[in-house]
Amino acid sequence: VPYDQIAAYEQVAYPTYLHPMTHPERLAALAKLHGLNPPPAARCRVLELGCSDGGSLIPFALDLPHAEFYGVDLDDAAIARGQHTIAALGLRNIRLDVRNVLDLGEADGQFDYILTHGLIGWVPPHVRDYLFAIYRHRLTPDGLVYVSYNTYPGSHFRDLSRGMMAYHTRNIADRQVAAGQGMALLKFLSASQAEPTLYTMLLETELAGMVDRDLAQVVHDELGEFHQPFYFHEFVSLAGAAGLRYVTESPYADARPQGLKPEVTQMLQSIGDPIQRQQYLDFIICRRFRRSVFCRAGLAVEPVRSERMRALLYSSNCVADTPEFDPAAGQAVTFETPLGQRVTTTHPTAQAILSILQGRFPQRLDFPALHNLLPETPESDLAPALLALLDRDLIIVHTVFPRLATAAGETPLASPLVRLQAQQGAEVTSLAGAQVQVEEPLRQLLAVLDGTRTRATLLRELPFPSAEALDRALLSCAQLGLLFDPAPPA
Ligand SMILES: C[S@@+](CC[C@H](N)C(=O)[O-])C[C@H]1O[C@@H](n2cnc3c(N)ncnc32)[C@H](O)[C@@H]1O
Repeated sequence: VPYDQIAAYEQVAYPTYLHPMTHPERLAALAKLHGLNPPPAARCRVLELGCSDGGSLIPFALDLPHAEFYGVDLDDAAIARGQHTIAALGLRNIRLDVRNVLDLGEADGQFDYILTHGLIGWVPPHVRDYLFAIYRHRLTPDGLVYVSYNTYPGSHFRDLSRGMMAYHTRNIADRQVAAGQGMALLKFLSASQAEPTLYTMLLETELAGMVDRDLAQVVHDELGEFHQPFYFHEFVSLAGAAGLRYVTESPYADARPQGLKPEVTQMLQSIGDPIQRQQYLDFIICRRFRRSVFCRAGLAVEPVRSERMRALLYSSNCVADTPEFDPAAGQAVTFETPLGQRVTTTHPTAQAILSILQGRFPQRLDFPALHNLLPETPESDLAPALLALLDRDLIIVHTVFPRLATAAGETPLASPLVRLQAQQGAEVTSLAGAQVQVEEPLRQLLAVLDGTRTRATLLRELPFPSAEALDRALLSCAQLGLLFDPAPPA
């Protein structure tokens, strides 16, 4: 079957998700940590290449009403879905077009943030070259590029299964069937020997990773014709040739050694050149995927210094093992990050910060507000403690406050996107950057929270057994970041 990339995406739509680590306000925070002066996210111009149905770009446009968003994708069904949502929300600061990235040019102007998630490793070489040309010509002088790509050495394992799956499914036109058959081959191979070998264990692990994903993702990620992973240093060289300099990873913790032997972490930290340091980190952890941030090559990317944390905002949605802990008690407390990493700390300032941020999530706090809540902690201890938490993925750094309401008020109002999504299904996008599954009758409640209904009306219209049950539901809407503050930010 001759491979046609447009037809492949038309046959099986790639499921889109919100990718919060691509949010311009978060990229700006990471750049500031490195001494850069990125364009303020609140009033920036953003381009997303391969934006699909705007799963990320639409929530970002809602968050930043004074910024301007443009997304292109060659999948017309996905763009039509996105355009429909934009029209339903009445958003005026975002536009999505069916367009090949190859058609972007001078007339499109320049952008402060260029986002490319899940694209550059999956396109033919001439399209990849053109993406780098877009970065070179379409980025404003202080702008940032976010790009995800597959890396070696980890991607060798995918190469192993891809080659065999491609051969096994070469005559199957229906790509969903092909994906199923390809996975069946891996299952057969991984169970084919009397005793497990390194080979069968590898195939089993690869298969487990596919089973966890959407079949449509397997169609494109495992069976797509083009797949070009890079060693980190190779990608940095290509970016360098396009006039870009590496800044860091988003999320930031991806750029930091996690869970290694102390002497290995020390060895890595002794490598002066950040590119070499990152490359050896990939060798150590067998990395297969990166989400990198680049700026223009002429800018100075400085090592992170903790005092720069003072200019940022923070949030944390990690969860402590021990619900009630006393930071002053000097006990070890284990926290679980949203991605399931478990981190234990005995550090009283770290515990105190997390207890405050968790208790207020999804709110964000700035440095003075946090310090006010921790009057005993010397200011000079606070910034290093915050940086150590960022290193371990226990907090997120921001540059803008979210448009969320922390209390339901007289006539509660859900985010317009949440309301629309709740009318269609159970998955909604929170103002804290998460996809949330809501159950009945919470879904029904969210679908009608348009700011005109009092609690009495809501109780009459919806199947809540009591006023207390409705109050609890509204509280959980607030805690999940689903309630909207309609006042546009300054
Ligand atoms: C793997 S999906 C990623 C979608 C989205 N960025 C995400 O991460 O959820 C790749 C997207 O790139 C689009 N695409 C591929 N080649 C393209 C091109 N040459 N021009 C525009 N879009 C392209 C596909 O249609 C598809 O929607």
